[in-house]
Amino acid sequence: MRGMSAQEQDTLTRLRDEITPRGLKYYIETYGCQMNMNDSEKLAGILCAAGFSPAGSKEDADFLLFNTCCVRDHAEKRVFGNIGALKQRKDEQPHFLIGVCGCMMQQEAVAKKLYKRYPFVDLIFGTHQMHELPNMLQRVMSGERVLFNAEPDSNVVEGLPVLRAPGVSTSVSIMFGCNNFCSYCIVPYVRGRERSREPERILKEITDLADSGYSEITLLGQNVNSYGKDIGTTFPELLYAAAKIEGIRRIRFMTSHPKDVSPALIRAMADLPKVCHHIHLPVQSGSDRILRLMNRGYTHQRYLELVAQLRGKVPDIEITTDIIVGFPGETEADFEDTLELVRQVGFSAAFTFMYSPRPGTRAAEMPDQLPQSEKKKRLLTLNELQASQTKKNNEKYIGYVGDILVEGCDTRGAEALAYGKYQNFKMVYFPGHADMIGQYLRVGVKKAQKNSLIGEIIHE
Ligand code: 5AD
Ligand code: SF4
Repeated sequence: MRGMSAQEQDTLTRLRDEITPRGLKYYIETYGCQMNMNDSEKLAGILCAAGFSPAGSKEDADFLLFNTCCVRDHAEKRVFGNIGALKQRKDEQPHFLIGVCGCMMQQEAVAKKLYKRYPFVDLIFGTHQMHELPNMLQRVMSGERVLFNAEPDSNVVEGLPVLRAPGVSTSVSIMFGCNNFCSYCIVPYVRGRERSREPERILKEITDLADSGYSEITLLGQNVNSYGKDIGTTFPELLYAAAKIEGIRRIRFMTSHPKDVSPALIRAMADLPKVCHHIHLPVQSGSDRILRLMNRGYTHQRYLELVAQLRGKVPDIEITTDIIVGFPGETEADFEDTLELVRQVGFSAAFTFMYSPRPGTRAAEMPDQLPQSEKKKRLLTLNELQASQTKKNNEKYIGYVGDILVEGCDTRGAEALAYGKYQNFKMVYFPGHADMIGQYLRVGVKKAQKNSLIGEIIHE
């Protein structure tokens, strides 16, 4: 474990009091997963402590920071494109600062390429150097260009300032990194090995969040079910302890790896009323052969058994998943196994992806890479099947009544529609207004649409 050093704290104070010009504004553009969003809240916390204030928009920012993702090619291309488009602005406003950080920049070759190709970028650093931001900022403010690409750090960094989005729902990282080395995935290379935060620290953070009005917490990790293995505790133990915290009404978690879902986890979900009845359980493929090539550690049958166990103990559980189509060597028969699994499980929702070769991963070197056209075709077929499953699943909810936490309000249509999720992750829209955001309301479902549920507030 490591916190910010006294020297780093000192730099922060000096930045705030002496170096950062008054009124300098930052904007962080975040790509990718919830882990990155959570990191961005820490980056924002550091920037505020260094004397910056948040800008309302990119255009209004004096410092624009891109927190990048490299899980798929698409995300990388977008980042390069969006940064390239800033050249003119930099020419016109030389004091405008541009920074790029996150997973994509943790890959040394990519960071160097960006540094060379875009000489107008001021600051580049990876996922392991967030706590060094004060020192990097100091150098950037004195006119230096900084490319900070250090070795992966095996420490858990604690105590960074955090600026959270206001509201009642927020996330807490409980662990960092991943040890699984699924053959397609770059995460273990850019996020490093699994390391868990001490439970006391997590529980203290959640208690403080509850005290400041947050009541829905999402516990985050690449594979939360292996939380604690390195420090002699377990994820279910953490859930039991977190559920005791007063003021917390809902506990969510993601992501779960099917090979690590234990009977103790299922029991905790069934036992603890605060733990939400939703699990994000990426299956990736329904073909045993492909699952083996992916290094996933379970079979089609084992996944179905797990689903049956979860539904046996937690009957109203909703299951969401991630699926990759077009993994190297995936045949029509393999793909049919995936479709079959989707039919068998009836997922609440599926995030579907075309396989994207990631340099340095094993799958990128595998023979029989599929043409893009084939991947696209399979993705469409899969999405069509899932759409019909989603619709079927939605129809089950007609007449359902439950509590939702209002997340937002869509005012674009003729009638303003507020929306929020039931405890088990199902989203419902209903006539409402923006003042309801953050409230828990009782809502009944009247209609099921293709992608969403329509309901109304129940006054009891
Ligand atoms: N190609 C396509 N999808 C990928 N994912 C991870 N790596 C790749 C890749 N190389 C997907 C997986 C994972 C989700 C976050 O992104 O489905 O669960
Ligand atoms: Fe990537 Fe697999 Fe780890 Fe998930 S479990 S982050 S897919 S290596």
